[in-house]
Amino acid sequence: MSRDQKSQSLGQKINDFLTRTRKIMQGGGEKAIQKQQAQGKLTARDRVATLCDDRSFHEYDLFVEHNCRDFGMDQKSLPGDGVVTGTGTVQGHPVCCYAQDFTVAGGSLGLAHARKITKIMDHALKMGVPLIGINDSGGARIQEGVNSLAGYGEIFYRNTMASGVIPQISVILGPCAGGAVYSPALTDFVFVVDKISKMFITGPEVIKTVLGEEISMEDLGGARVQAEVSGNAHFFAESEQECFEQIKKLVTFIPWNNRKPSEPFPAKAPRAEFKIDQVVPDDPRKPYDIRDAARAVCDDSDFFEIQAHWAKNIVIGFARMDGKTVGIVGNQPNFLAGVLDVDASDKAARFIRFCDAFDIPLVSLVDMPGYLPGVDQEHAGVIRHGAKILYAYSEATVPKITLILRKAYGGGYIAMCSRHLGADFVFAWPQAEIAVMGPEGAANIIFRKEITGAADPEAMRQEKIKEYQDKFANPFIAARDGHVDAVIQPEETRDFLLHALNVSRNKHVSRPDRKHGIPPF
Ligand code: HXC
Repeated sequence: MSRDQKSQSLGQKINDFLTRTRKIMQGGGEKAIQKQQAQGKLTARDRVATLCDDRSFHEYDLFVEHNCRDFGMDQKSLPGDGVVTGTGTVQGHPVCCYAQDFTVAGGSLGLAHARKITKIMDHALKMGVPLIGINDSGGARIQEGVNSLAGYGEIFYRNTMASGVIPQISVILGPCAGGAVYSPALTDFVFVVDKISKMFITGPEVIKTVLGEEISMEDLGGARVQAEVSGNAHFFAESEQECFEQIKKLVTFIPWNNRKPSEPFPAKAPRAEFKIDQVVPDDPRKPYDIRDAARAVCDDSDFFEIQAHWAKNIVIGFARMDGKTVGIVGNQPNFLAGVLDVDASDKAARFIRFCDAFDIPLVSLVDMPGYLPGVDQEHAGVIRHGAKILYAYSEATVPKITLILRKAYGGGYIAMCSRHLGADFVFAWPQAEIAVMGPEGAANIIFRKEITGAADPEAMRQEKIKEYQDKFANPFIAARDGHVDAVIQPEETRDFLLHALNVSRNKHVSRPDRKHGIPPF
């Protein structure tokens, strides 16, 4: 073969390669892409390109094809088998990611599709980098039968094995059914976008057939439902663009894996508009926003809230102190007085476990009247759910710093990372109230006879409330017995927290030998 002939055949091969590549990259074709875009959705490849740093995404397994022969599938070519997989960087951090392509068979998951995903998951675990999954899928590919179910099983297994080793982020960008929502449920953070994301185990069609009830996809499992009602979603955005910005920010707070600390930032003072001594009102009955307390103590007042729209009586999120990531858990007096209930306990417990797994110190801001009483809560399992927060704090071996700003009553006092659950440092402000219950309730119970037997029961009640308040509604009894390490002035708070975090950096505790504990799941 002459040199000309050789280079011609190389040219042909490259042309052939480019033609094949272009065809696959068109996914389900022009019409399907237009339908996707008309719904305000990006295509799978646009999504990974938007998420990753400029030109950093490298795609693999482009030429993978399914092997299904049933229901006419042998006649159907599914480009890339409906999923884009690869590696890239986000804010300079390496990540593995996949994006399901709804334009190809509704992003449904068959065996080849699943194998592409499990391959990139294996890479993420081996390389010790975060996994980001963009889900836009009708779930198990119906034509592939048990092979689709097998594929999901393999994904769930890997999600579980990777849990606590690498951060796993799920993005829901379409109608996601069945397995397409169970994998996200096993991951650490779930992102949804208004009007685009839908999550459900069984869709409206099945509900109509089985239960005879009509419900829209949006009302069943739309983004707002998942972010505000069910708590399945951790982040809510108005658009895909905003969602990707949120992920980029999250990635800066979390480490690549459980052996590597998250990247430090230059330390910064809180912004001048957040003054810790002005956050909490003098009147103990007046509410305020605990997020302002977090902002007043963290670097640049940058508190990155998680699950902001669900179980609002507790606040969780990341911040930096002295440039290093901390996890903040705070009761929210602005919502239900910051009580602990079923959802708040679930929300905090999961976050505490994430921070513990990834070596992120915990700062707890306490101001709450205790666990929420009532039939609804008891029947919803507040005993079981409430125990999760006790378990999570007790189990955590990362530095645990607690600040009691105002009220710390009853079981809530213990639950909110008290000394007794292993807090390394407990600080309280002079106005803190630490007791078994609020003065009113306490007086009614322990002085019942005196009150009912008095000539003026109400006057006696007030007298006894004051007596109890004077005795217990302060931090000094707890400090006297060493349950509080230091009573500090509000303006000293950041200094005390920074110092405590600094001296705890090398904390090491060992636990009894066991396979694993059994948390009250
Ligand atoms: C094969 C599917 C599919 C699926 C959608 N498609 N879901 N193909 N298997 N699971 C195909 C459609 O046939 C259609 O193909 C294309 O994708 C687009 O779907 P549409 O229905 O036109 O889109 P839309 O109206 O937007 O509705 C999206 C949807 C709906 C809500 C997701 O398609 C749907 O209800 N799908 C089935 C959902 C489901 O029940 N999945 C199984 C879950 S069980 P054409 O060729 O017409 O373009 C499961 C098991 C695991 O996942 C459980 C683990 C615990």
